[in-house]
Amino acid sequence: MNFELTEEQLMIQQAARDFAQNELLPGVIERDENQSFPKEQVKKMGELGFLGMMVDPKYNGSGLDTISYVLAMEEISKVDASCSVIMSVNNSLVCWGLEKFGSEEQKQKYLTKLATGEVIGAFCLSEPEAGSDATSQRTTAIDQGDHYLLNGTKNWITNGGTADFYLVIAQTDVAKGHRGINCLIVEKGMEGFQIGPKENKLGIRGSDTHSLMFTDVKVPKENRVGEDGFGFKFAMKTLSGGRIGIAAQALGIAAGAYELALKYSQERKAFGKPISEHQAIAFKLADMATEIEAARLLVYKSAYLKDQGQNFDEASAMAKLYASKVAMEQTVEAVQIHGGYGFVKEYHVERLMRDAKITQIYEGTSEIQKIVISRSVLK
Ligand code: CAA
Repeated sequence: MNFELTEEQLMIQQAARDFAQNELLPGVIERDENQSFPKEQVKKMGELGFLGMMVDPKYNGSGLDTISYVLAMEEISKVDASCSVIMSVNNSLVCWGLEKFGSEEQKQKYLTKLATGEVIGAFCLSEPEAGSDATSQRTTAIDQGDHYLLNGTKNWITNGGTADFYLVIAQTDVAKGHRGINCLIVEKGMEGFQIGPKENKLGIRGSDTHSLMFTDVKVPKENRVGEDGFGFKFAMKTLSGGRIGIAAQALGIAAGAYELALKYSQERKAFGKPISEHQAIAFKLADMATEIEAARLLVYKSAYLKDQGQNFDEASAMAKLYASKVAMEQTVEAVQIHGGYGFVKEYHVERLMRDAKITQIYEGTSEIQKIVISRSVLK
């Protein structure tokens, strides 16, 4: 067993850390306050290769491993979780799914642009009445010979307004249940495709989350990803990898809050000494450091298994379940250590605490992760 990062991985980690400190930190409070999409920052992430990290260079990607990806996700999430969810969806759910299961034509037409960040993508599974229960898709894609006729509504779509390409999961044959579901590539601007207003959220307020409406949208047959009926498995396999990215996001949020709390506790004095020298605070820091390191090991293990070509379904669910719990609990502790200052925006920890909550909800709630893990351990 080797816990050492390679020189290349350390370089990526440092590059992401520098980018986050220099380019994301200035303005992160304002973007959160105004819910403004980080357009310039996303453009730079693309230029630095952070939007197609694991994609083969022949499709314009960075050709890196999943460990490098989670290292970058962690560093970026320490500072700006809105940017990291944009990055995670584009890398894990859109680029990875297309590279693994798309046709050569789809890769040339879509992946080559998504991998550079020239455009970004969205993954559209959730519906008003199908969130956790993902097999109950109400959106329909009726086979019309050379195209599908797409009708329905998708909810909570990250990158919903800014994406150019959308992977849309829809039911083609109800009688076949989950085996009658397909994934279609929908382009912004296709007739009948409408984007709803931006959601006003508790956290990750810079990222744009929208509902999408499809009314008789004609999607060419060649835009189906994989064989007829592969859509549900496509979604499950893709989400399993996506959970590694969100686990890394949760880890970064927790680690970012911890680093701020550690620094604050060494500077802030009470009762004649830095508060870090009071056992009440020192023990909190000890617990935080331990919990975060445990989450980090689960995240790295799931990334490692994926890089080794081994099954990572259980590992990614465990990493997401645990890291998101740590993110929620430890950001609350970071606010507590900051006292009153933790409750105001300038100190960043209140934002990290708000951002942490979504990591227990999207790409499968904590309860969904427990379904995946319990099925795996009981089989
Ligand atoms: N890989 C491959 N196939 C899989 C799989 C996986 N990881 N998981 C399930 N499947 C297959 C099963 O083998 C089964 O196929 P067969 O019948 O051919 O064997 C089929 O899929 C159906 O599986 P289940 O019977 O297990 O399905 P289920 O109805 O019991 O649901 C679930 C399983 C795990 C609860 C699933 O519905 C699920 O993951 N739900 C959560 C959905 C989710 O994560 N949504 C997030 C939306 S995306 C998002 O949040 C992105 C964003 O914007 C940030």
